[in-house]
Amino acid sequence: MAEFSAVELIIQKREHGELSTEQINWLIDGYTKGSVADEQMSSMAMAILLNGMNRREISDMTAAMIASGERLDFSALSVPTSDKHSTGGVGDKITLPLAPLASVFGVAVPQLSGRGLGHTGGTLDKLEAIKGWRANLTNDEMHRQLAEVGAVICAAGSGLAPADKKLYALRDVTGTVEAIPLIASSIMSKKLAEGTQSLVLDVKVGSGAFMKTIERARELATTLVQIGQDAGVHTSALLTDMSTPLGLKIGNALEVEESIEVLAGGGPADVVEITVELVREMLRLAGKGDVDVAAALKDGRAMDQWRRMIEAQGGDLSAPLPKAKHSHTIMADASGTLLTLDALQVGVASWRLGAGRERKEDAVQFGAGIELHAQIGNTIQAGQALMTLYTDEESRFERAFESLENSFSIGSGSVDRKIVIDRVS
Ligand code: URA
Repeated sequence: MAEFSAVELIIQKREHGELSTEQINWLIDGYTKGSVADEQMSSMAMAILLNGMNRREISDMTAAMIASGERLDFSALSVPTSDKHSTGGVGDKITLPLAPLASVFGVAVPQLSGRGLGHTGGTLDKLEAIKGWRANLTNDEMHRQLAEVGAVICAAGSGLAPADKKLYALRDVTGTVEAIPLIASSIMSKKLAEGTQSLVLDVKVGSGAFMKTIERARELATTLVQIGQDAGVHTSALLTDMSTPLGLKIGNALEVEESIEVLAGGGPADVVEITVELVREMLRLAGKGDVDVAAALKDGRAMDQWRRMIEAQGGDLSAPLPKAKHSHTIMADASGTLLTLDALQVGVASWRLGAGRERKEDAVQFGAGIELHAQIGNTIQAGQALMTLYTDEESRFERAFESLENSFSIGSGSVDRKIVIDRVS
């Protein structure tokens, strides 16, 4: 590999220059191995945040991060693979009904997921609310389950894109998380290392999302789609609303409960709509043509797949889901239409109730969270229950109430909520 000087590369980017493929490969390889120091990489991350990267540089950065670790290969399966990634939101449990639903239609769905940190929950934390369910699978077990069941949700091993793990931790403490070239290459290095043949990105927009404005969300979505296409993976993105929570249940066991309602043909309309739209997009990219996706929720096929998927990993679906020890219901103080209900404030409240963790090593409370009794646009009567808060520790209510102060408004008028805002392909 060619030799470069980290200082010279930092200056090159600081002066708005373009880094070559060889320079990017050298930088990421050196950083992973420790010959490029943390302070040099943080300076480079800041130069990238300020001056950006072009499409070729971002794709090279992604490829270099993939090359830092292992790459899974599902090409031996008899059906195409299709994957979905969400940038994360409050009440975003879509992966749970989506993986079994998509697999009904002859695609294999490998969903390698993580645990939550901060106000958005992690998929593994949710599924671990099911008694006996096991998140850690070997690569052989994952392949076998994909071949036999068609869907697997499990922990992403530490072997995927280790350069990203190191760089993400550095960005977190150097004010460089927000750079779109770094966010996009970070997300895509992990997704492409998983070896899927097609990928749909759910880029959330609004207060509860990583991207607060439609402009930033569109820029991220476009960059993610370009990286996927440059790597030869069929990729598209949906921009979806995260200004208010998704569905009525927020928290680990609560979200499993709501996912099961959706798989049984019911559940809130917004959760059903996003699930069905994302699966349609996955099937379109996998070349499966036009199929009636929603029918598989109504007739039990998706539920059958869910059972097989959970039981293959030791989950006992006959065991009751964990319930919190304490609850508190908040009542509406006026009559009218629920005009706003802020995703971030509800997400933070649920997190403070114990549904999320503050530090990586913390345990989550499976029963903690919030159940909404109304969504925006619904008509409310004064004194009606608006939401119920759940936790195992009563002392946690106070801080949750603080987060919920002014989190909703009731008045006259109607709400026009567009759930799937746009598609980028
Ligand atoms: N998620 C990631 O995986 N990486 C980022 O940089 C941001 C969100």
